Amino acid sequence: MSRPAPAPAPEPANPFVTARDLAAPDMAAVDGMIRQRLHSDVVLINAIGEHIVGGGGKRLRPMLHVLAAHAAGYAGDAHIELAAVIEFIHTATLLHDDVVDGSALRRGRKTANAAWGNAASVLVGDFLYSRSFQMMVELDRMPVMRILADTTNSIAEGEVLQLLNIGKAETDEAAYMRVIERKTAVLFAAATELGGVLAGLPEDSCAALRRYGAQLGCAFQIADDLLDYVSDAETLGKNIGDDLAEGKPTLPLIYAIQRSTPMQAELLRNAITSQRLSALDVIVDTIRHSGALERTRARAQAHADAALEALATLPNSIYRDALAGLAEYAVSRTS
Ligand code: IPE
Ligand code: IPE
Ligand code: MG
Ligand code: MG
Repeated sequence: MSRPAPAPAPEPANPFVTARDLAAPDMAAVDGMIRQRLHSDVVLINAIGEHIVGGGGKRLRPMLHVLAAHAAGYAGDAHIELAAVIEFIHTATLLHDDVVDGSALRRGRKTANAAWGNAASVLVGDFLYSRSFQMMVELDRMPVMRILADTTNSIAEGEVLQLLNIGKAETDEAAYMRVIERKTAVLFAAATELGGVLAGLPEDSCAALRRYGAQLGCAFQIADDLLDYVSDAETLGKNIGDDLAEGKPTLPLIYAIQRSTPMQAELLRNAITSQRLSALDVIVDTIRHSGALERTRARAQAHADAALEALATLPNSIYRDALAGLAEYAVSRTS
């Protein structure tokens, strides 16, 4: 007599899926808004806009915004348009970033610069930036405009700071942090803070939401820089090794240089200064053996923990729980 088959173990809850499901009704409206406001009479703008938006993306920043708005008790509908504004700003930075980084793959598709050239990508990025400002003005709330104007300005500063570090093997952890706080964390911070601002929360609660977003953004970018070494193009939808090819001194490399033999450190420094993608596997092996991957992951985890701490000051709700789950996801994600 055969025994009954054991019941299958329940799938562990994926915090990204939980958050996405919770935000789904709002995110459907955000998607409609994105598609409607992407439109232009200029055919090339529609083509490139559709190419990058149609590639999907995780829509993490607008999701953070709508979840933060609900966690703050917001009951209006301005968060839909604001979420679309936030995704437009993000998309504009991606169009520009892929030109600057010379990247060929994004969201599993050819980058816009690979398909249409650098000039078209930069100009359509400008279109998206300026469209996001038109939408912001329509919302007609000065505190919102102030936060987003400061945010886009910081992102530009972060990208320029990063440019100055390219090819510089002496870049240290503090210099790296200055870059990622501006180029990535500020937009996450704005997305979550604006949830509180829309709801009219007191300043200290808005500041807590901002701290949560900023810490989450740091964790997210550190994880991204790790994935650039350890993932693969199919999973990530981006080519791995782009950072090394460009001579970008990110945290895995910075840590590995600190903890390698003098000869290995020399190899890593040369990889940064030569800005050529040669022997990625040797470099990845060296990084792996130095313990830099674990240290990088631990640093990302420390930021995720700080994000959770900031969140703990807000009232408990399913939305706050979803935000907490996203802090876990930022570190454990594979794409
Ligand atoms: C890519 O962001 C840029 C970084 C800050 C690492 P995402 O990984 O959120 O990109 P999409 O929108 O999901 O494609
Ligand atoms: C993120 O940096 C870009 C911005 C925040 C503007 P990366 O260069 O690491 O992003 P990916 O890897 O190209 O998505
Ligand atoms: Mg890039
Ligand atoms: Mg990257």
